[in-house]
Amino acid sequence: MNVLSAPALPHGLPPLSDELKTHLDQVNAALLGHIERAGGFLPFDQWMHQALYAPELGYYTGGSTKFGSNLPTGDFTTAPELSSLFAQTLSRQVSQILHDSQSVAILEFGAGSGALAQALITELRQQGIEPEYSILEVSPDLRERQQQRLAPLRAHIQWLDRTPDDFKGCVIANEVLDAMPASLFTFGQDGQVLEVGVIAADQTTARGLPAPFYLATRPAPEHLALLVAERLEPQPFYLSEINLQAEAWMRSMGTWLSRGAAILVDYGFPRHEYYHPQRDQGTLMCHFRHLAHAQPLVLAGLQDITTHVDFTAMADAALEGGLDVLGYTTQARFLMNCGIANYLASPPADNTPAVQQQWAHTMSSANKLLSEAEMGELFKVLLVGRHMTTPLLGTLSGDRRDRL
Ligand SMILES: C[S@@+](CC[C@H](N)C(=O)[O-])C[C@H]1O[C@@H](n2cnc3c(N)ncnc32)[C@H](O)[C@@H]1O
Repeated sequence: MNVLSAPALPHGLPPLSDELKTHLDQVNAALLGHIERAGGFLPFDQWMHQALYAPELGYYTGGSTKFGSNLPTGDFTTAPELSSLFAQTLSRQVSQILHDSQSVAILEFGAGSGALAQALITELRQQGIEPEYSILEVSPDLRERQQQRLAPLRAHIQWLDRTPDDFKGCVIANEVLDAMPASLFTFGQDGQVLEVGVIAADQTTARGLPAPFYLATRPAPEHLALLVAERLEPQPFYLSEINLQAEAWMRSMGTWLSRGAAILVDYGFPRHEYYHPQRDQGTLMCHFRHLAHAQPLVLAGLQDITTHVDFTAMADAALEGGLDVLGYTTQARFLMNCGIANYLASPPADNTPAVQQQWAHTMSSANKLLSEAEMGELFKVLLVGRHMTTPLLGTLSGDRRDRL
């Protein structure tokens, strides 16, 4: 076992309240217990799972998740949080999938604050579709928040505890794959694949550190070493990720999605870009109060930890699960294909300040969703499914499946 790096405090970190410090101490103590029970080395995916999803302590399960753009409280903003424009545009793709699969069932994974469900159900009902909406949310805290927000639509929504045995309709997961725990790896001098994990700092050094942990390496277990070796050449001083949980999730969709399609939206790349030699520090990012940094060991339980998505791996896993890969493109192209321009074509005639302010907000959201410098290019949409008979609207032009 070799130490890889010590934690460092990210620059610009806002001061923590006493309440947050107490929570952080509790999470760190629980993580030290996990490291000890794992024999002194906790593989990074298990660390990430605990830091994000440990009951009552994790970022998504302990009340810490802060969606939205509001400083000082918001941590990050997702497309549905920007405005209802994303959901309105997405509704065109959803309704095509429902029509083709002869179903009105929608299953949303990881619904966050419930913003997408709220806007999407409202929009579909205006189009004359009464959806049967299900949400599968792993965080009890977020599930409760969703139930509060969506109380007026309660008759249309059910919360599931596990995936259905058989599902026909439309599946949606916006920024869910990136929140699934990933394994980290690097290479030894002889090209051997090394698994990255977390070890406890001893008591004397821990006092000088912002968190009582180190990142460390050990030879990767055989299955991980083989998968990494299949995907990229060993390179010196190279750190990256592989998300086996997300791949298993994609594969398992093939066991229950009997007719219909899934819309998977997330930030990421095809494999040749993901494992580009220049991306030698991987894609792991943490978010706390709109401060993005790459220090996963600090602020455990208080900050979001994510990795970008290897869309080639997701498409391969879908194929292994017996699904078809129906389309892959950028978020900007997907939204344009779904007619986002129609929603922006006619400014409101009403000149009252509230209406004009709302319109300005919609235009600024459109810019964020579409701009190459913001979400338009980095975010991708992968469409997978089974027994679909018509080409999907969202990738009718600009389909990049050939790049996967
Ligand atoms: C980054 S948030 C995105 C929330 C929301 N979709 C949005 O776009 O605002 C990730 C969400 O995925 C949930 N999540 C993570 N893994 C999941 C899984 N395997 N099944 C269902 N939900 C999951 C988290 O609890 C959280 O609600």
